[in-house]
Amino acid sequence: MPKDPVIRVRDLVKRFDGRTVLSGVNLDVMPGETMVIMGGSGSGKSTLLRCMIGSLTPEEGSVELFGSNICGMCETDLNGIRKKFGILFQSGALFNSMTLAQNVALPLQEHTDLTPEIIQIQVKIKLELVGLREHAGKYPSQISGGMKKRAGLARAMALDPRILFYDEPSAGLDPVTSAEIDQLIINLSSNLGVTSVVVTHEMDSAFAIADRMAMLDAGRMLVVEKREYFERMRDTDADAAEGMSETDRLIRQFLRGDAVGPITERRTSTNFEEDLFGGPIDFDIPSVVTTRSKVASSGQPDDDLTDEST
Ligand SMILES: Nc1ncnc2c1ncn2[C@@H]1O[C@H](COP(=O)(O)OP(=O)(O)OP(=O)(O)O)[C@@H](O)[C@H]1O
Ligand SMILES: [Mg+2]
Repeated sequence: MPKDPVIRVRDLVKRFDGRTVLSGVNLDVMPGETMVIMGGSGSGKSTLLRCMIGSLTPEEGSVELFGSNICGMCETDLNGIRKKFGILFQSGALFNSMTLAQNVALPLQEHTDLTPEIIQIQVKIKLELVGLREHAGKYPSQISGGMKKRAGLARAMALDPRILFYDEPSAGLDPVTSAEIDQLIINLSSNLGVTSVVVTHEMDSAFAIADRMAMLDAGRMLVVEKREYFERMRDTDADAAEGMSETDRLIRQFLRGDAVGPITERRTSTNFEEDLFGGPIDFDIPSVVTTRSKVASSGQPDDDLTDEST
């Protein structure tokens, strides 16, 4: 019997200030799978993720987690569901005034009745899982960016979630550290059966971890397919690509990171020369009082003004 999806997104529409950022997005995520959401900058990946975790309310459509629609759900019910998923934000989002152990302990202290002894054991297990048990007493400022990500992951795992959401888990990391994070995501999914939703535009990482991949373009879901489908698309040679549809050529360009193709053709569609010399002034450039002119008039620099070029 086919399993029900743990996440079901239907006809999702999200607007900011009247501007449509997600238009009719559909997505199913099956239990235990790793779904990678990819797409260019501004295509709506983080917005979709934030709708999926209930931190943004869509204008239309629904997001079902574990069979319950979270859109319009009251805070109490939402908090009940939030205990079943973990989130790894871009920066790791650790509390700087707390040690790594305290950071990981926090969700357990807030959401469970476990004794301090049991919490300590849980914290050690989670830190061991990400290879940081020996650094439990350190503060975020004392560890590297990659370690912060791992600590953030340990904290996201604190309540043994069934789903983990990641927003750009390998952004800003060197290739080896990034591969380590990928391996952790793979291990969590294969050893613990965690369902993962990973937003990324790092293609190496996407191909390493994904079971299925979803491609967003300007707020529209272009295609949701198995990883192998995208691998074939990426590896299609230039001659064969000539015969592809515009959408497929766009996906292929994105996957390959090619400098020429439908994505870049679209970007250069407005005339730069005309914009430079022909049109009206269409944005305000506020006048700024620089430190230099302030010093010249008062003889004293002003602490509030930080023009570091002087
Ligand atoms: N809170 C907000 N208020 C207004 N506009 C927003 C807000 N959040 C996102 N947007 C806009 O929605 C669009 C999609 O943003 P989003 O952050 O989802 O993109 P993204 O695909 O995650 O991009 P990136 O790869 O750069 O992280 C962008 O044009 C962005 O400016
Ligand atoms: Mg984003």
